Amino acid sequence: MHPILINAVKAARRAGGIITRASQDVGSLKVRSKTYNDFVSEVDHAAEAAILDILKDAYPTHGFIGEETGNDNIDAENVWIIDPLDGTTNFLHGFPQYSISIALMQQGQLTQAVVYDPNRNDLFTATRGRGAFLNDKRIRVSNRAKLQESIIGTGFPFRDFTHLDTYMGMFKDMVRKTSGLRRPGSAALDLAYVAAGYFDGFWEIGLSKWDIAAGALLIQEAGGIVGDFEGNESWIESGNIVAGNPKVFSQMLQTLAPHLTDSLRSQPD
Ligand code: IPD
Ligand code: CA
Ligand code: CA
Repeated sequence: MHPILINAVKAARRAGGIITRASQDVGSLKVRSKTYNDFVSEVDHAAEAAILDILKDAYPTHGFIGEETGNDNIDAENVWIIDPLDGTTNFLHGFPQYSISIALMQQGQLTQAVVYDPNRNDLFTATRGRGAFLNDKRIRVSNRAKLQESIIGTGFPFRDFTHLDTYMGMFKDMVRKTSGLRRPGSAALDLAYVAAGYFDGFWEIGLSKWDIAAGALLIQEAGGIVGDFEGNESWIESGNIVAGNPKVFSQMLQTLAPHLTDSLRSQPD
């Protein structure tokens, strides 16, 4: 394993331990609502602090984008992008589907990725150019050729309803044109599932960098494609993301195309 990835894995596992211990008694946690339906608990903060401790100690000159602590030194050559607990709503309900997501961006290019599922002890890792792995076993995207036979992951709007009608249009079309849709509730893990071939594709509107950075590299290293709703590069900035194996990816773009409003099209840099 790449030496930088070893540290990222250590950080993810440390955060996983904190989250798992706290999951024994979610009722006693202090929870705050950042905005409508956007909950954060002391566990999110403790997990992020543990990750930052390990990575800042190992890489004092690197920059950090953490969901809970914000930006630090982000003009650095190397910037870590961290979601300490992806799927907080699930976690707070005791629904065992959440993850830790850590990615490294080097000069604007994603180079290292970890998504860790502490419930299954599933560790998804990737280093650019070296493939994607689940618990040290090589993973690849599925080779299903037809959208009609595919299972597609997604995320429903639940905080910001600006695109709700548009999303429902996309959803209706996708329901008809696939074998089924799933909404597990942790986008980072959903993307890891595309990399592992459990999902043939995924799409969601308006995610954040920390939800998608690690999962996207996993998919690329597993032979899949990640794009915005027009198949271009603006997904990391807009958070409008489509991903899948190459065949399913293009059929998803065709299905989504009639529903795109101007603000969901590719935005220039
Ligand atoms: C959320 C999860 C969810 C997605 C939301 C994200 P959080 O992350 O990834 O699946 O639908 O858009 O914000 O807030 O639990 O870290
Ligand atoms: Ca998240
Ligand atoms: Ca989070």
